[in-house]
Amino acid sequence: MSLYTSHQSKMIGSIDRAVTDLAQIQPLNNSYYAQCLEIFEANSDQRVGLLGWLEANVVAKMSQDANAILSVGCGTGAFDECILRYARARMNQVTYLGIEPNEISAADFLKTMSTQTSDQVDVSVLVQKFGEQVFENKFDLILFVQSIYYLEDRNDAIDAALHALKPGGELVIVIAPDEELNTIANLMWQRQMEQKSWFSDNVRAHFDARGLDYGETRVSANLNANECFGESTEAGRNIVDFIVQTRADQLPTGLRNDISEFLMSISEEQGTTTCLPHPVDIFRCKKP
Ligand SMILES: C[S@@+](CC[C@H](N)C(=O)[O-])C[C@H]1O[C@@H](n2cnc3c(N)ncnc32)[C@H](O)[C@@H]1O
Repeated sequence: MSLYTSHQSKMIGSIDRAVTDLAQIQPLNNSYYAQCLEIFEANSDQRVGLLGWLEANVVAKMSQDANAILSVGCGTGAFDECILRYARARMNQVTYLGIEPNEISAADFLKTMSTQTSDQVDVSVLVQKFGEQVFENKFDLILFVQSIYYLEDRNDAIDAALHALKPGGELVIVIAPDEELNTIANLMWQRQMEQKSWFSDNVRAHFDARGLDYGETRVSANLNANECFGESTEAGRNIVDFIVQTRADQLPTGLRNDISEFLMSISEEQGTTTCLPHPVDIFRCKKP
């Protein structure tokens, strides 16, 4: 059964055609991306849901002797700071490496993570794209939290990550299904990256093709979109720009209106809050 009504499917088709006709869609620049990401996350309950699940089901079950964690596309560190806090409570020693090509986010990562540093903890960041480095040591846990979409070859990235794990180490990929809120980002990314975007189905297909055992869990989440519609505020504009992964004010008016109408059509009223659902999947795969 289709997730969308026929009217919504028509709107998606119309947005897709308008996006295809644009000469170019500029990605958000580094500092504006970092700002939009944090405003978006501050208005969503997704991070809290993911962190609670990962603490209980992944970090709390790691060996106390585990000591090496890699976060690919770590952004500003707001997420990893919590993972490091859980790891510190469990492990004797933690080496935490971030990989982040956005130099502004990478600098923020070190600042954010410094709240958790001690003799017991060593934090560093590589300001690079994933795939550009050779690791001297292997990892107990490798995280791709909402970052795999941005990589050029995601199949290679998953294989490289599995290779970089210690035996018994675990790869965790957090990725959205191609649904609801993510539908718009998908249309934009396809055009920006000139290749199909990746969503949960692609991760599943990759693990299946490799014959790997994996688990998956869906975490439901909602974005508070009160500021996104009508007379929007700066925060509202940041959220919409993050949803569309480009400056919405630079899109043609007709396309902007279609996006707004589509978002409104998938929104749900919860009391006084207009919510946009944006579920997310957690995939985990242990290295034998
Ligand atoms: C949606 S953010 C997620 C940040 C963080 N993991 C979090 O959950 O808050 C995606 C991150 O992936 C980074 N990224 C983009 N291309 C990348 C690449 N080729 N290799 C590694 N990270 C990349 C972006 O700069 C961005 O910080």
